[in-house]
Amino acid sequence: MKIARLTLENNIILAPMAGISDLPYRQIMKRFGAGLVFTEMVSANGLIRAGKRTRELLRSAPDERPLGIQLFGDEPAVLAEAATLVRGDGELIDLNLGCPVNKVVSSGAGSALLRYPAKVARVVAAVRRSTDLPLTVKIRSGWDDSSINYIEIGRIAVGEGADAVTLHPRTRSMGFSGSADWAEIGRLKKALPVPVIGSGDIFCAADALAMLERTGCDGIMIGRGGYGNPWLIRDILALQQGRPVPPPPTPAERLEVARSHLELNFATFGPRKSLLDMRKHLCWYSRGLSGAAAFRTLINHTESLDEMRQVLDDFFTGAEEEA
Ligand SMILES: Cc1cc2nc3c(=O)[nH]c(=O)nc-3n(C[C@H](O)[C@H](O)[C@H](O)COP(=O)(O)O)c2cc1C
Repeated sequence: MKIARLTLENNIILAPMAGISDLPYRQIMKRFGAGLVFTEMVSANGLIRAGKRTRELLRSAPDERPLGIQLFGDEPAVLAEAATLVRGDGELIDLNLGCPVNKVVSSGAGSALLRYPAKVARVVAAVRRSTDLPLTVKIRSGWDDSSINYIEIGRIAVGEGADAVTLHPRTRSMGFSGSADWAEIGRLKKALPVPVIGSGDIFCAADALAMLERTGCDGIMIGRGGYGNPWLIRDILALQQGRPVPPPPTPAERLEVARSHLELNFATFGPRKSLLDMRKHLCWYSRGLSGAAAFRTLINHTESLDEMRQVLDDFFTGAEEEA
């Protein structure tokens, strides 16, 4: 798959996810074959104020590249300056035009921009002028049921220089309820001359193939389906290459990857943050194994990383698939 001058090894893309898509998570997903990984959304305002915590989100490592950097903001000039500041931090810039979260929307950013197509044009044009990196936008279907405008927004973005468009086909007011309307991805693909990436509700390898076949989209994005399940990417690659989907990971394989994730997290963030961050990931790695509920309780009460490692080893060493 190609996005402007960037050639990806495959068309499976890790979604930008605030609070999830940090460096260790991206490294794990990359190891399982993701063709492109995205940062969490990064505040353009935070970047130009040289915010340390914002900069921290751009921490990267050679083994995860190519890296897409997602920016959010609402001011064309601020977004353009932020795009200049991240010039050396990744291989692609994406603009967030879809985030439904109140805090982001009330500042005029994320999906709030979908309500102002003329502003979308100014934002994309300003960022396009400020960077020669491949530039993409990520959108939802529209603000609500009565204002579905993804095709208009997609055309505007491409007209102002976007090199690809990702669509999560839910409206802002849907949040994560209902299901993603993949037919909209197909309509967008037909309407645009650039690659279209589909995002939404891919939970197994068959879902991924179904989205590609039904919509004709060029790339697929993995979000919640990858939680505790980087094997999803391996499975999709197998199906795409005409091989059977490999058997699900054994408890020993899960332990190995969960341990590796924990150690990457520790190396990146140190013990305090890792202890908190890894709780959710380790709970996800345990899904579908007998005794997972009791394991979750234990993990959520661990007070040191050594204790966490011990609880992890004890659980997965004796665990079995739930009948
Ligand atoms: C916890 C969480 C955080 C997210 N953060 C972002 C974000 O920072 N930027 C963005 O464009 N989308 C964000 N999304 C949306 C995802 O990128 C994706 O489009 C959406 O989850 C639908 O895909 P899925 O069904 O595969 O999860 C987030 C989703 C979740 C669940």
